[in-house]
Parts: sequence; C-alpha cells; structure tokens
Amino acid sequence: MSGGMEIIRRPAEMTRWARQQAAAGRRICLVPTMGFFHEGHLRLMDMAGRHGDLVVVSLFVNPTQFGPGEDLDAYPRDVGRDRDLAAGRGVDLLFVPDADAMYPPGFQTRVEVEKISRHLCGRFRPGHFAGVTTVVCKLLNIVRPDAAVFGEKDFQQLAVIRQMVRDLNMDVEILAHPTVREEDGLAMSSRNAYLDARLRPQARCLYQALERVRELVREGELDCVVLRQEVERLVGSYPDAELEYAEFVHRDTLAETTRADRQTVLALAVRLGERVRLIDNGLVAEHPDRT
Ligand code: PAJ
Repeated sequence: MSGGMEIIRRPAEMTRWARQQAAAGRRICLVPTMGFFHEGHLRLMDMAGRHGDLVVVSLFVNPTQFGPGEDLDAYPRDVGRDRDLAAGRGVDLLFVPDADAMYPPGFQTRVEVEKISRHLCGRFRPGHFAGVTTVVCKLLNIVRPDAAVFGEKDFQQLAVIRQMVRDLNMDVEILAHPTVREEDGLAMSSRNAYLDARLRPQARCLYQALERVRELVREGELDCVVLRQEVERLVGSYPDAELEYAEFVHRDTLAETTRADRQTVLALAVRLGERVRLIDNGLVAEHPDRT
C-alpha cells in the first residue's frame, strides 16, 4: 500500500534527504501532524501536493505540548493505518521521529511566542503553545520545507506559528486550510475518537453555537456580550457540555472584540463529560464554511 512513500525516523537523515531535494530544485511542502489521520489531515496533504513538488508529512505526538494530567498517554495512535492513508494521498515521505531523537538528554531550548499564546486556549493549557512552537520550529529546521500547511481548526495555533515565523525571520511560507467537518458540522479531530454514543451527539454544540451566532449577526445583532450569552445558553442546554471559553476576537491579532464585524472570529472550547475537550472557531460574518 505504501507504494513509493519513504519513511524516515532519524532527524539527521531527514535533513540530508531535504538538502538533496533542494539541490535538485524540488520544492518541499510539509504537513506537521500528531497522527491518527482523519479527512482533515488528508485534505491538508492534498493542499500540500498543490503547493510543492514533494509532500512531507511529519507524525510525532509531541510530549512538550501536553500539560500534566492531559491526554498524552491516551492520545490515539495507529502508525500502520496512518502510513497507508498517507501513501494513498500521494505523500512522498513520512517523517516519524522518536521522542528521544527530538528531545535527547540535555535538551534545554524553548521557543515561546509571548502575548498571543496567553489567552484563549493558553489560559487553560499553560505551556501548551510553547510546546507547539518549539516542536514546529524544530520540524521546520529538520525538514527545511519551502511551505508548511496548518489547519484553521486550530486557529490560535495558526496565529502563533505565523507570529513565530515572522518574528524569527524563518524562510517558510505558512499556508492555511479551512476546517474540515463531519456531516453534522462537528470539526474533525483525532480527539473525536474519545466520543462515546452519549457524548457524540452533544459534540454538535460547538458548530451549532457558531451557526447560531452567524444567524444573529445576519439579523443585525453585533454586540458580543449578547452573542456570548446565546453561546452560553446553547452549550448549557446539553447535559454533559461545559463551556470553557467563548471569545470574540480579531482574526489576526486575537485581540478581544466587543462589536462583531467581518474580521471577528468566535473561538470556543467545550468540555464534554470527564475527559473530552473540543475546540472550534469561525468568522461570525460568514456563511457556514463546510468544505
Ligand atoms: P494535529 O492535531 O495532528 O493536527 C495536524 C494539523 O491538522 C494541524 O495543522 C491542524 O490544525 C490540522 N487539522 C486538524 N483537524 C483539522 C480539521 N478538522 N480541519 C482542518 N485542519 C485540521 O496540530 C497539531 O497536530 C500539533 O499541534 C502540531 C502542529 C503537529 C505540533 O505538534
């Protein structure tokens, strides 16, 4: 099944391959992932194929972006299945490093984007974005891509990575892919594997809240306090759902907005039952972004 797809595990070998390809004039596009692929990941790979001569996918469940008590050990993994899915999408190379190779004994550097890492998810997951930016910086240095694709589903992550690339003069183009959704609007996520038959129908509440806010905005309600109340009411109507945050922010700066306009994104995080945490986001003055 894996056809012409190469698999590399060692960072040094990955960099050697990348140098050779660059010398041959080939453009590399990278899709960083933590694996357990769903259609969202696969669409990012398709997009990478349109922007590069070679598509590299990295698969690494990065321990430094999980906090104490988070789901690092439980995070779903199936490298065999991922390998077949990636090969089926025409990926040229899968980079699957070990944790020891990425963080060898003595490792002590951290890349941290300050302000925009601190609100939204950053408030509830301290240190999370520093883990993300550190590993993404490493992956970009190891794979040396011309471009890298990230999903808008993780909208704050995308903003933080763009900021890092700008601030550190990193020579890579950052491409964004719209959120890929299930039939009922639920944003695809590897963590949806945690949803049992009781929680799965309730997971709709995030997209429903987004749609409801869009409807209100179309009707002329632009006051974010009022819009937020509606999100609270809607999420609160599900027995196992607890709203962690719902914020109206500027799409680029993530600054809080009080009056909704074309640049306003609703970002929300919901806890479902004991162990599931889901996020979603979208522009409020836009028609549903199903892709
Ligand atoms: P992971 O959650 O595996 O996601 C990999 C990429 O797929 C991210 O850019 C994410 O935004 C994108 N993605 C996930 N679900 C999506 C959906 N439903 N629609 C569109 N894109 C989607 O995000 C990470 O891994 C990690 O933090 C990583 C960047 C790899 C660093 O460890």
